[in-house]
Amino acid sequence: MGAQLGLDFLDTAIYCSEDAKRIAKRRLPNIIYGFVEGGTGREVGMNRNISAFDNIKLQPRVLKSVDPRTMRTTFLNQSFDVPFGIAPMGMCNIVHPKADQIMAKSAVKYKMPLGLSTAASSLLEDVYEWAPENAWFQLYVLPPIEHAMALVERAKNCGYKTLVLTVDTPQVSRRIRDLRSGFSVDFKIGPRQFIDFATHPAWSLRMLRAGRPGPANFPTDGAQFDRNASRALANWAFLEKLRGLWPHNLIVKGVTSFSDAQRIQKLGVDAIYVSNHGGRQLDSVPASIDILPYIRRAVGPEYPLIMDSGVRSGEDILKALVLGANFVMLGRPIMFALGAGGAHGLDSLIEALKYDLSTGMAQIGLKAIADACPKQLAETDIFLPSVSQERPDFKGYL
Ligand SMILES: Cc1cc2nc3c(=O)[nH]c(=O)nc-3n(C[C@H](O)[C@H](O)[C@H](O)COP(=O)(O)O)c2cc1C
Repeated sequence: MGAQLGLDFLDTAIYCSEDAKRIAKRRLPNIIYGFVEGGTGREVGMNRNISAFDNIKLQPRVLKSVDPRTMRTTFLNQSFDVPFGIAPMGMCNIVHPKADQIMAKSAVKYKMPLGLSTAASSLLEDVYEWAPENAWFQLYVLPPIEHAMALVERAKNCGYKTLVLTVDTPQVSRRIRDLRSGFSVDFKIGPRQFIDFATHPAWSLRMLRAGRPGPANFPTDGAQFDRNASRALANWAFLEKLRGLWPHNLIVKGVTSFSDAQRIQKLGVDAIYVSNHGGRQLDSVPASIDILPYIRRAVGPEYPLIMDSGVRSGEDILKALVLGANFVMLGRPIMFALGAGGAHGLDSLIEALKYDLSTGMAQIGLKAIADACPKQLAETDIFLPSVSQERPDFKGYL
């Protein structure tokens, strides 16, 4: 309504991830919005992640008893109230000075996991204190390798029970939006950035008060965070070594090939995280949701799988579970919700996702999220009624 009258600053309610994105675009400086939103290359891969979800249809079922419904799920021996969580993202405090704390609070409130990035703007010890049952530590293996090993040691000592090794970033790809806007981790401020910040005074004042966010888990002397340094130290030998060193849950993030998935599974990794990094690394990558069924088939029905990239709604979460994921994570929508409305923004988004997931379950005749399976894909997509009136054996489909 406000937007129609040219009063779009009155548009503050978040009913879906698109609302969060629209409001964040208005409230955040372009340089920050572009850093969050940007994909690599022409952003074809990033957009394909979303359109691939749109192309998947679910089958409504009628006359079924669907009350009460439960979204509760168990993943890696931990119980969660919802089958989705917050993907690890670096520098979250650039969208809101208390972003890490807010995410930790919401993760506890909604009993969901929170990925804490190596490049987070809060100390891993602090985040563990805020959300001990929810925080998963995500590791990038940046040089020097001793620093990466020290991070693993710190995570172990402070009590983390889940470590996520990201392997899809041997080298950070160019993101054209960042090049054009002049985004850099240390916030070099030239005339373009100055105007950008000055025209977003609420964000700028908040940042001035809180201080410039930076990668908090890197000492400013010695192992400085170099975003463009090669991360290719995360290789097969490293993974084997890490498996030996890390006694708790180990997840490998960024897997998009079924043969890689099988090799990782054989190394005794506890779960695979199917992700193309939200299209931020390889523009020509297949959509994460399209890859998922192949990986499910490769690792078998029982092996724990997480997925992200392109998830924008409760129904998208349901589609991912139907296609073989045990757990689903969201990246950009979380950042946008924080940038749009801080704690209230994030909780509004989570409520919307929960609501739509629950009603989606009711529509397709599901009472328990654990029962999601390919049988719930639209009949138009999986068999021709003229060929058979019987529902086919879906085991053959995946
Ligand atoms: C701003 C931003 C920062 C990110 N930083 C990290 C990171 O530090 N570590 C990591 O494993 N993935 C990182 N990712 C990737 C996310 O974990 C996730 O895979 C991706 O955002 C999912 O796609 P979506 O944004 O379409 O939901 C980042 C993504 C964004 C948008």
